[in-house]
Amino acid sequence: MKILLTGGAGYIGSHTAVELAEAGYDVIIADNFCNSSPVVPERLEKITGKSFPFYEIDVADKNALRRVFDENEIDAAIHFAGYKAVGESVKVPLSYYRNNIDTTLSLLEVMAEYGCKNLVFSSSATVYGERAKLPYREDMETGPCASPYGWTKLFIEQIITDHTKADLDFSAVILRYFNPVGAYESGLIGEDPKDIPNNLMPYISRVAVGNLPCLNVFGNDYPTPDGTGVRDYIHVCDLAKGHVAALEFAAKNSGTEIFNLGAGKGISVLEMISAYEKACGHEIPYKIAPRREGDIAEFYADAKKAFEILGWKTERDVSEMCRDSWNWQSKNPNGYEE
Ligand code: NAD
Ligand code: UD1
Repeated sequence: MKILLTGGAGYIGSHTAVELAEAGYDVIIADNFCNSSPVVPERLEKITGKSFPFYEIDVADKNALRRVFDENEIDAAIHFAGYKAVGESVKVPLSYYRNNIDTTLSLLEVMAEYGCKNLVFSSSATVYGERAKLPYREDMETGPCASPYGWTKLFIEQIITDHTKADLDFSAVILRYFNPVGAYESGLIGEDPKDIPNNLMPYISRVAVGNLPCLNVFGNDYPTPDGTGVRDYIHVCDLAKGHVAALEFAAKNSGTEIFNLGAGKGISVLEMISAYEKACGHEIPYKIAPRREGDIAEFYADAKKAFEILGWKTERDVSEMCRDSWNWQSKNPNGYEE
């Protein structure tokens, strides 16, 4: 089966490309490198020994997408392409709505033209909004979202659901990711934020490797066991495997189905720092800073549905997340930049 990965050079897309190739799928990647490196396709070939047809295109450009579908008989698409920086989305909301929604509409329209009926979409736990109770379950009410980024995910979920209702042969799986971290064990691919990272794990990694002096822990007065924020971290390779299971499900079903991809377990900031210190073998300098605006104390998934229906669950624990993140960061101190 041939699978198109939009945004397949990015962090989650590249790890999913490896898992799919190892599961016997042919993978085609479309990406414009707006948040990834042209080095990624070579690294994927090095890891898997397979070649990945690569299209450097804007996925919103329907003519460019048609060329991909003309040249390949695509059975399914996984739609990763989009902007993802929450803070930036507050500053430039229109560019987030434009890119995230346009890429989705173009993809859905071109898939319809070519009779391609299976889609997996990268959504986020952020759609649950601030009032949701823990643990987050797929059938809970969504929104209001804390950022334009979150709203793009919720709007796209609605667009996909409406499209699926109108085309009864269409099958869509919406995956709500929790907090992806870690890297492929070879250290050849990993997360490489272009600027100073906003998210915890890449920030810790940059402090650990000496590129940043000190981690700010955003608040230690939350109503959590040690006072710091609690999240459901998931190893990116477990997440990637979840896409393989989702694709298999999409191929056998129609309609829209939503799954949380998380471990179902919360880890605090201080627990993560301590696990990372064990992985890298030295202390991570940190200081307690004020709470970050917009943060909530704690969230984690109810991960039962993905296990019961897809037969998928996470396999890697926090020590493996930190080990693999450190392996990537220490082998690539400047990310993909040589
Ligand atoms: P990423 O930025 O590493 O990957 C996204 C890829 O899409 C990049 O390679 C980028 O160059 C490409 N892209 C963006 N707009 C494009 C366009 N118009 N045309 C072609 N390519 C384009 O992000 P990621 O962490 O791999 O996330 C993948 C998806 O998962 C995103 O949709 C993101 O919103 C979603 N998600 C990510 C997280 C996370 O914490 N990483 C959490 C929840 C959901
Ligand atoms: C991020 C996204 C959210 C998305 C979620 C899962 C942001 C602002 N939000 O949030 O939309 O749904 O991932 O993918 O990017 N922390 C520190 N110091 C730091 C960085 C983070 O203490 O330098 C703390 C945070 O306060 C939080 C925890 O670490 O308690 C995790 O933060 P982060 O990695 O940014 O993830 P989320 O807040 O879950």
